[in-house]
Amino acid sequence: MITELVKENRSCRRFYQDHAVAPEILKEFVDLARMSASGANLQPLKYILSCDSQKNAEIFSCLAWAGYLKDWPGPAEGERPAAYIVILADTSISESAGCDHGIAAQTILLGAREKGLGGCMLGSIDRDALRDSLNIPSQFKILLVLAIGKPREQVVMETIGSNDSIRYWRDSDGVHHVPKRKLEDIIVAEH
Ligand SMILES: Cc1cc2nc3c(=O)[nH]c(=O)nc-3n(C[C@H](O)[C@H](O)[C@H](O)COP(=O)(O)O)c2cc1C
Repeated sequence: MITELVKENRSCRRFYQDHAVAPEILKEFVDLARMSASGANLQPLKYILSCDSQKNAEIFSCLAWAGYLKDWPGPAEGERPAAYIVILADTSISESAGCDHGIAAQTILLGAREKGLGGCMLGSIDRDALRDSLNIPSQFKILLVLAIGKPREQVVMETIGSNDSIRYWRDSDGVHHVPKRKLEDIIVAEH
């Protein structure tokens, strides 16, 4: 089951915007992150949840989507995420979150996928603008934004081609292709 879930858990950037995601669902996802591993068990991560259309619009304006798709400015109105989870580090607990936010983000997105939702981690964030919009106190570092919604696009994973490019691309039918390196190419040593 975990294999299928991980395979299906592709980054999704186009959604049925009208398909609401309830606040309780977002809380369930954060609860999954809460139960995940944390360096020295410090648990410095804190979260901002949004499923409000006005707040969502403010968050959306701070994000950069799919840098390799040069002629695509990001999801159009109607296909934007219905919800967001902003992952913060509380510096009063720890200056560094280590890799806790990666673990939290993946866990949340797997939980979303299990419920028939999809999402995308976004690290390209206008952090100053987002801090202003959401009134985020300076004690919190903005680490990642997770966009969440009902997927409206097909995403396929494929083995990296002979040109060795890791760039994802979209075909003429709008299908998003994600090249992944071969297993034998990422195992450096086997003892
Ligand atoms: C730390 C991190 C930051 C990312 N930031 C962005 C981003 O700012 N914008 C975006 O569209 N996708 C972003 N992504 C999604 C990646 O582009 C995506 O994971 C990659 O293309 C592989 O696709 P996959 O998730 O379907 O395997 C980010 C992913 C990670 C792990």
